[in-house]
Amino acid sequence: MDKLSLDFGENSYDILFERDFDGLVCALKNIAAAKKLLIVTDENVNTIYGSHVRELLQCAGYDVCVHSFPAGEENKNMQTILDICSSCISHRMDRKSMIIALGGGVVGDMAGFAAAIYMRGIPFVQVPTTLLSQSDSSVGGKTGIDFADNKNILGAFHQPRLVYINVSVLKTLSEREFISGMGEVVKHGVIYDKHFFEYLKFNADKVKELEPDTLIHMVKCNCTIKADVVVKDEKENGLRAILNFGHTIGHALESAFHFKMTHGACVGLGMCAEGFIAKNRGMISQNELDEIKEVLGTYKIPTSSLLPKYDDIFSFMENDKKKADGRLKFILPTAVGSVMQVDDVTRDEIHSALSYIDEK
Ligand SMILES: NC(=O)c1ccc[n+]([C@@H]2O[C@H](COP(=O)([O-])OP(=O)(O)OC[C@H]3O[C@@H](n4cnc5c(N)ncnc54)[C@H](O)[C@@H]3O)[C@@H](O)[C@H]2O)c1
Repeated sequence: MDKLSLDFGENSYDILFERDFDGLVCALKNIAAAKKLLIVTDENVNTIYGSHVRELLQCAGYDVCVHSFPAGEENKNMQTILDICSSCISHRMDRKSMIIALGGGVVGDMAGFAAAIYMRGIPFVQVPTTLLSQSDSSVGGKTGIDFADNKNILGAFHQPRLVYINVSVLKTLSEREFISGMGEVVKHGVIYDKHFFEYLKFNADKVKELEPDTLIHMVKCNCTIKADVVVKDEKENGLRAILNFGHTIGHALESAFHFKMTHGACVGLGMCAEGFIAKNRGMISQNELDEIKEVLGTYKIPTSSLLPKYDDIFSFMENDKKKADGRLKFILPTAVGSVMQVDDVTRDEIHSALSYIDEK
């Protein structure tokens, strides 16, 4: 069994990497004596995997209910949280009961937030089913919802008791969502691990064929990088900011595109633009920038696009959460595998970077 152990003191937990759901029951029995479980999932995931997972758990003697809600970011809101809490109450869940988050990042963020506030906090387990959630969002303990047009503005840090990753579910994921997840995967290589970046460069065929051992290696490398960063900076006071490479411009693009383009695709564009700023500052070479673009392109992550009005992009950037003392923070590469934070990027530099990725 492939396993990664995260050290958060009394909130420590394991991430298991599997090819099916067969080990889920045993893994749950190892972490808690819960009798009642609530599976929180979205309607798409429920249709494909809900009954299989529910039956597995019921056959093992658990008292299981399923709470399923319509898929999509637009449902990542307080009403869905209240509905999940109502299901907890109807299922007579107590402090020892457990929530199982079966789905992508939207499900994980909401199931985790409901678990953080129901009875002042009950245990929850992440069973992520998208590439983005397996490589990124299920690790780190950030949970939350969107509110009043602000993404992830309400939430809590609540670590899961276990993350159970079954890579075979990626077979049913759409290509669009797979490419979006790959945006964050490539980012992890660029910010932290040159060897992993090289692995992505030379194993693209096996990744795209969804070869299970390759997927397990890739997802495990991602979780290792993310875990290394968040264990050192659980509450986001410093190092965790490096995960934002590509995000200062990427988030603004996501909003300016009115969320028609996926998060990972916008982060890909953001990495090219921010990489261009780093290249112009002499922090990385033209070859390194080309290499980053080549790997992004290999996985069909966009490296250029027809951009919305630059003024719109700038105004979304002005509202960015990643602003300190009125100055925008950027994470820029200093090589493939390392980055640094700067807060002195000028409007002209951003303008040139947007022109660089603009297909016009
Ligand atoms: N907590 C964190 O640290 C963190 C980090 C990054 C992103 N996020 C959040 O994650 C969310 C995005 O997550 P996401 O990209 O996983 O999107 P998502 O959860 O919306 O899932 C995308 C789509 O894929 C479907 N799906 C999920 N698994 C599937 C499968 N195996 N087969 C077929 N379809 C499947 C879903 O039903 C949905 O339609 C955002 O809300 C973002 O804010 C959180």
